[in-house]
Amino acid sequence: MRLIIFGAPGSGKGTQAEFICKEFGIPKVSTGDMLRLIIAEGGELGAKISDILKKGELVSDDMIIRMVEKRLQDNDCKKGFLFDGFPRTLLQAKGILNSAVDIDAIIELEVADEIILERLSGRRVHIPSGRAYHVVYNPPKTSGIDDITGESLVHREDDKEETIRNRLRIYRDTIDAIRQVFTDTSKIKYLKIKADGDLYEIANTISAHLKEVVHLD
Ligand code: AP5
Ligand code: MG
Repeated sequence: MRLIIFGAPGSGKGTQAEFICKEFGIPKVSTGDMLRLIIAEGGELGAKISDILKKGELVSDDMIIRMVEKRLQDNDCKKGFLFDGFPRTLLQAKGILNSAVDIDAIIELEVADEIILERLSGRRVHIPSGRAYHVVYNPPKTSGIDDITGESLVHREDDKEETIRNRLRIYRDTIDAIRQVFTDTSKIKYLKIKADGDLYEIANTISAHLKEVVHLD
């Protein structure tokens, strides 16, 4: 199972990725999570990446592609994976299509911008795992604490209104061209999912579609 999940910032990619990866036994390959881990390690590279993320701009294609290629060599990716937040530019999208990696299905989450601002202002994340919570819609068992590790949750630095608006603008400016690259090929199942409702209902809808994809193989 090789999957991609697309969607605007705050559309629920990371949240739905948790459900999908658990159900289908595949790892989540999230470029955003990987970048935040490099920032958490400190150092010059971390500081440079931090500056880019704080502005809501994109990290260079070169660095992202190298990071993903390295991650795909890990053993856990042999049985499949779910890309979250990658590809994000035309160059990254064409890079996948021209590589030996055959994608089975793409899930695109559709959510209106006004819902996104509310979701991101209440989001709390566990940086080491990338797990995301929401203070109202998906709260941890104990406020401010990750359910699994007991470690602290944080408010992401790029979840400020001005940065969110820039991230949304970049997403809306690039998604049509990226979608086109993948819908032009009939080999990949493209699933558009309305993602502004209950997160468990969305997870059930995605699961039902993906089971059909598995049966098609
Ligand atoms: P990345 O980490 O990928 O961020 P993003 O795309 O902006 O998406 P988010 O993680 O903010 O949102 P999400 O869709 O995962 O939503 P979530 O599930 O958390 O990238 C960050 C930055 O890294 C980029 O801006 C860029 O600088 C850089 N970068 C990353 N990849 C790159 C690449 N390939 N190339 C270049 N640069 C790259 O949900 C949000 C909140 O809503 C949570 O609180 C959640 O609990 C809640 N929620 C989820 N679903 C629901 C629901 N149905 N109802 C109510 N609440 C919900
Ligand atoms: Mg995410």
